[in-house]
Amino acid sequence: IAVDPFDLVVFGATGDLAYRKLLPALYQRHRDGQIPPVARIIGASRRPMSDEAYRDATEKALASHVPAAEREPETVKSFLERISYVAVDASADGAGWADLKATLDEGADRIRAFYLAVGPDLFGAICEGIGAHGLITEKTRVIIEKPIGKDLASARAVNDAIGRVFDERQIYRIDHYLGKETVQNLMALRFGNALFEPLWNAAHIDHVQITVAESLGVESRAGYYDTAGALRDMVQNHILQLLCLVAMEPPSHFDADAMRDEKLKVLRALLPITDDNLDQFTVRGQYRAGASQGGAVPGYLEELGRTDSTTETFVAIKAEIENWRWAGVPFYIRTGKRLATRVSEIVVSFKPIPHSIFDSSAGHLTQNQLVMRLQPDEAVRLSLMIKDPGPGGMRLRNVPLDMSFAQAFKVRSPDAYERLIMDVIRGNATLFMRRDEVEAAWTWIDPILGAWERTAVPPKAYTAGTWGPSAAIALIERDGRTWHEEV
Ligand code: BG6
Repeated sequence: IAVDPFDLVVFGATGDLAYRKLLPALYQRHRDGQIPPVARIIGASRRPMSDEAYRDATEKALASHVPAAEREPETVKSFLERISYVAVDASADGAGWADLKATLDEGADRIRAFYLAVGPDLFGAICEGIGAHGLITEKTRVIIEKPIGKDLASARAVNDAIGRVFDERQIYRIDHYLGKETVQNLMALRFGNALFEPLWNAAHIDHVQITVAESLGVESRAGYYDTAGALRDMVQNHILQLLCLVAMEPPSHFDADAMRDEKLKVLRALLPITDDNLDQFTVRGQYRAGASQGGAVPGYLEELGRTDSTTETFVAIKAEIENWRWAGVPFYIRTGKRLATRVSEIVVSFKPIPHSIFDSSAGHLTQNQLVMRLQPDEAVRLSLMIKDPGPGGMRLRNVPLDMSFAQAFKVRSPDAYERLIMDVIRGNATLFMRRDEVEAAWTWIDPILGAWERTAVPPKAYTAGTWGPSAAIALIERDGRTWHEEV
C-alpha cells in the first residue's frame, strides 16, 4: 500500500548507515511501488557535493548492497531522480540551513521526516538547527538510532536535547531488531494463536535463551566499539527488546503506547545485577586470534592496535524477571563477536513432563522447545517427542515441527529498515522505543557496567570461532541446563 507523499532528509547522508542500509531500503520500497512519485529523499551532510555526485554515490551504494537481479536500470534511474543533496553544517548558525529550508518549502504540506544517521554528539545540534530554522511542520518526525547515550545520565541528556525541539510523539527511536520479520512474528505467534499463551508462564516454561551470535569481528568500527562493548552495543537495546517481547503481558491493542507500556513493565521488573551477584549472573569475554569461516583471524586487541583494552566483545547474562508470570524462570542471554557462527535465536524451553508412562527403552524424553530463529534462515520450530516409526516398540524421538520462512513464503524477506522507515512515514510508532523504555533499559545496565568497572576484572579470553569463554557455558550448566546449539 502506497504511503502518503513525504520528504525524507537524511543527515549523515555520506555515512555508512545511509549507504549500507537506508538508501538500499528506500530503493526496495521504491521498487515495490510503495513510495509515491512526488516523494523526495534529500541527503544532507557537511561536505559540499552536487546532486549529481550524490546520485552517483547512491548508485554505487546500491551496486554494493542490492543484489544485481533487483537492480533493473529503469528502476534505479527513477529512484535516483528522487534524490538531491544539500550541504548543511550542523551548528545552528552554520551554512546550508537556508538551502534546506528552501528545498523543503517546495513540499510544505507533505510528511517530513529527518533521519539523524549521525553520531549522538550531533543529535542536539541538528535538532536545534531544525527548530531554529522553522523546519518543523505539523507532519514532521525525527528518527534517531542508538547509541542513545553510554549510560543513564548521558541517555537522559540526549533525550532532553531532542525533547527541547520535538514532542515525544514526533520522535522515532529505531531499534532495527524490532523491524526483523521473525521478531514481528513473535507477536503474531504469541497473540494470534490460542495455543501458546496459556502455557507462557512459570508454571510451564523452564527457561528462555536469547542468543545473538556474530561471526564477524569489529571490522572497521573498532574505534566506536571500543568505547561501547557488547553490553552497550547489543544488550541494552536489541536483546532487551527481544526479552521484552517474549516476556510482556498481552497489550490490549497492537499499538504504540499499549505495546510500550507492557515492555516498560518488564524492564522495570528485571532483577538488578549488582556487585554481590555479578559473578553469578554475568560473564564478559574478549576474543583472541583464532579461526573463523575457514581462515585465521586476529584477536580483538590486534584489530584495535592496542594492548590495554578491557572492552568486552562477548557477554552472557542470566536475567530474572521479578513478577508473577516469570518468577523463577531464568532468561539466559548471550551475544558476541567472532563466535562460531552467525545465528540469532530465541529458545523457549518448556518444563519436563511430570511423569513418564514409558519404560527406559523409550529413550530420553527431551523437553519441548519453541525455537524462533531470527537469522539467518528465518524459521519457527517446535520440537516434539514422537514415536519412532516401525515395529521396534515404543521408542520416542525428538522431532521438530518446522516452519522455514523461505520455504513457506517464496518472497524476498525485507530488511528491517524497509519496514521501519515506512512505519515512520505512516506515523506508526509501535516498533519504536519510547523515552522511558530506553531509560529503564539503562537503569538495569548501569549497575552492571559500574560493577564491572569497580571489580576491574578483565574480560575472559576466548578463541575466535568458538562459543565464547568457558565461563559462559558454566553459567548455564551450573543450573543443570545447556545452551541450545542447533546450527
Ligand atoms: C548493530 C551493532 O546495532 O547491530 C553491531 O552496533 C551489530 O555491532 C549489528 O553487528 C547486528 O545487526 P544484524 O542485523 O546484522 O544482526
